[in-house]
Amino acid sequence: MGRRLSQAPVLRYACTDDSGRSYYITTPIFYVNAAPHIGHVYSAVTADCLHRYKILQGFSSRFATGTDEHGLKIQQAAGTAGKEPLTFCTEVSDRFRHVFKSCAVSYTDFIRTTEDSHWRAVEHFWSTLLNKGWIYKGTYEGWYSTPDESFLTPGQVTDSTDSMGRAIKISTESGHKVEWMKEENYLFRLSGFQDRLREWLQSNPKAIQPEKFYNIVLQWLENDLPDLSVSRQRSRLQWGIPVPGDPEQTVYVWLDALVNYLTVAGYPETHSHWWSVVHHVVGKDILKFHAIYWPAFLLAAELPLPRAIYVHSHWTVQGKKMSKSLGNVVDPVETSQKFTVDGFRYFLLRQGVPDTDCDYDDDKVVKLCNSELADSLGGLLNRCTAPSLNPEQVYSHFCSTSFPKEARGRAVPEDYRMIEAVSGLPALVKEHFENLQVYKALEAISACVRLTNGFIQRHAPWKLNCSDAEDKRWHDTILHVAMECLRIYGILLQPVTPGLADKILCRIGVQPGERSWDHALDFLSKYDRRDCPYEGRKLGPDTGVLFNRIERSKPKGNTPKPGKR
Ligand code: ME8
Ligand code: MG
Repeated sequence: MGRRLSQAPVLRYACTDDSGRSYYITTPIFYVNAAPHIGHVYSAVTADCLHRYKILQGFSSRFATGTDEHGLKIQQAAGTAGKEPLTFCTEVSDRFRHVFKSCAVSYTDFIRTTEDSHWRAVEHFWSTLLNKGWIYKGTYEGWYSTPDESFLTPGQVTDSTDSMGRAIKISTESGHKVEWMKEENYLFRLSGFQDRLREWLQSNPKAIQPEKFYNIVLQWLENDLPDLSVSRQRSRLQWGIPVPGDPEQTVYVWLDALVNYLTVAGYPETHSHWWSVVHHVVGKDILKFHAIYWPAFLLAAELPLPRAIYVHSHWTVQGKKMSKSLGNVVDPVETSQKFTVDGFRYFLLRQGVPDTDCDYDDDKVVKLCNSELADSLGGLLNRCTAPSLNPEQVYSHFCSTSFPKEARGRAVPEDYRMIEAVSGLPALVKEHFENLQVYKALEAISACVRLTNGFIQRHAPWKLNCSDAEDKRWHDTILHVAMECLRIYGILLQPVTPGLADKILCRIGVQPGERSWDHALDFLSKYDRRDCPYEGRKLGPDTGVLFNRIERSKPKGNTPKPGKR
């Protein structure tokens, strides 16, 4: 089999010792046995949001995603498709790349486990574990689930029936069929790590987020950990990396896959810089692999543990898990074309709650995008920049007599409350981002947008008589305050809806160098009697409506085709 890929070009990063300002975030690497769907895009967009956020904060950030191409499941899928495994993998891997690109997922590294550099990393990692005495040859006897590529204890298996009504055993957690297997292979001394894993979690309460999943892992660690089989006989599994020094065995696909995170970091030669700042985003289905096996492997190899494992739940459709056989898989490319990339990303991150499963529904996307992006945010931009209200097309002037710091002037108590809310918004958004509660960050931004619209509505600048000097000053002050709010929303939304954020910031004349997180901390400086660099500036060009309202799709199947009765 012509199975090795030549080494893909590797992006080089300037390494500094200042790892305090570096950040490395990963998504799972996805199996190439099925086409990408919105669940995969959700993981990728979540990680992308954190990556973009860190860059705004001035970090040098690296963001890796990719495809998991070895194992029995892939070997079988390629066979079913009647293709050479590598040809099959390349095709599906390219689809993932394409889908992520089309959803503005700005990864810096895309890794495939069939790459040469990854093979070398896995071989080195394996040899390290072996040399340190953590791997031994033995016999594994027990249940195996190929769809999950997972070994299960009798307690993790229950009775069920297949589609033909035959009695089978399934994994309690995933519902996938399991088979009994018995073979001689290599085992990893997982049993030796129970205490150290517990200590790691107890001294790092934020290591697994949200807390719900941290507690689940601690609970798992109450039970003994059986040693883990980490290879398969080559006669059963050819599509994988041979065990170094033993061509009769193939490295277990999960050991192979997890090492991808190290490969990207430069393992085994130059990984220490990026490895010290690694963060993983994973779905709850693969929590055990990331929160137990992976840290145990790393401890065995004497490598640092991840800074954080961010876990999210699943997207369902009409309450059901998406699956090819149910025919309810939501295609991300189609969805992003229907609702725009920003609309789709906004929906996923605004509606996706990591703690619980969320149901996908086109109507929900339409409602959310129309109300929060088109009407609320788009309306605010329009009010600040429409020639009818802003005939000079400038970032309006602020007048501290109209809006003094001490409540007098023409401002009312609600206006002061709004200013307080917007001043505190960046800190709130930061906290929510860092706890993987992106939906709460977006909820908070959306609430502030509503306050700002309320502020304009309340003072109705269109009713003011601008030929009166005092009215004119108040009119401009209203617009200035609204634009300052909009500038903050634009900056804070960049990680989530990069296109819309850019459109807002360009229109109000905020330059690319003025869009960092720190720029959002400097809000309404005129109110504090400091200079405002934006005041009086010419606005950017009018590039049209911020977000076009989406028309509701008509129910399918009711329109008779022409010519058919
Ligand atoms: O497990 N909702 O790959 P995989 C949300 N190759 N996220 C979902 C989802 C859904 N309905 N379905 C999938 C593997 N995901 C291994 C990983 S990592 C070293 C190896 C996302 O193709 C979620 O992140 O089965 C989940 O954990 C991942 O895709 C599983 O992808
Ligand atoms: Mg899976």
